Amino acid sequence: MHTIDNVTEPTIVWHEHHVDKAHRARLKQQRPAVLWFTGLSGAGKSTIAGALEQRLAELGYHTYLLDGDNVRHGLCADLGFSEQDRRENIRRIGELAKLMADAGLIVLTAFISPHRAERQRVRALMPEGEFLEVFVNTHLAVCEQRDPKGLYKKARAGEIPQFTGIDSVYEAPLEAEIDLPAGEEPVEVLVERCIMALQQRGIIR
Ligand code: ADX
Repeated sequence: MHTIDNVTEPTIVWHEHHVDKAHRARLKQQRPAVLWFTGLSGAGKSTIAGALEQRLAELGYHTYLLDGDNVRHGLCADLGFSEQDRRENIRRIGELAKLMADAGLIVLTAFISPHRAERQRVRALMPEGEFLEVFVNTHLAVCEQRDPKGLYKKARAGEIPQFTGIDSVYEAPLEAEIDLPAGEEPVEVLVERCIMALQQRGIIR
């Protein structure tokens, strides 16, 4: 029984529907999963996740890519970059990713998601083996040198407060399922690494 706020007489009860996750996954002939890309701004999360999604689509898998910059225009448009807002951002995306996996999809997410505890909370929402953390492991110096949106320059000039890696924390994963040396290898090689890891774990054939 699912209740909220320890209410003894629940007013909201979970409804089991006839068409379930296994059914939807069977129709799509795939195993649902959440591939959670985390890393600094400019690390390459969106680029690699996008290229991997393209590859998966070519192989016939049903996917959806949730991207930080895009989601912040809609679902999370009310949130900023305080610690509290980032936690709420990740909480919402976690719940959304869970629903999308429940729909039978292979979900890719590309959010800085700077806090270990928040990523752990999202992991705990999913069944064992369904959540894969992908660390886009690019050094701050490389991200700052790339600076694709000119945001590091602004952050250094004091125009963007609480910028991740400058004056806001990024807690690197300790045991990511996939650790990508994204500052050193080309995107195609990194995508291939992901494909191999997904095959080894039985997510894809
Ligand atoms: S998260 O910290 O809440 O996970 P998210 O991935 O949604 O962040 O958004 C990060 C993107 O927002 C960055 O790639 C960058 O383009 C933009 N951004 C704007 N302000 C900041 C900031 N203070 N810190 C980090 N990224 C910022």
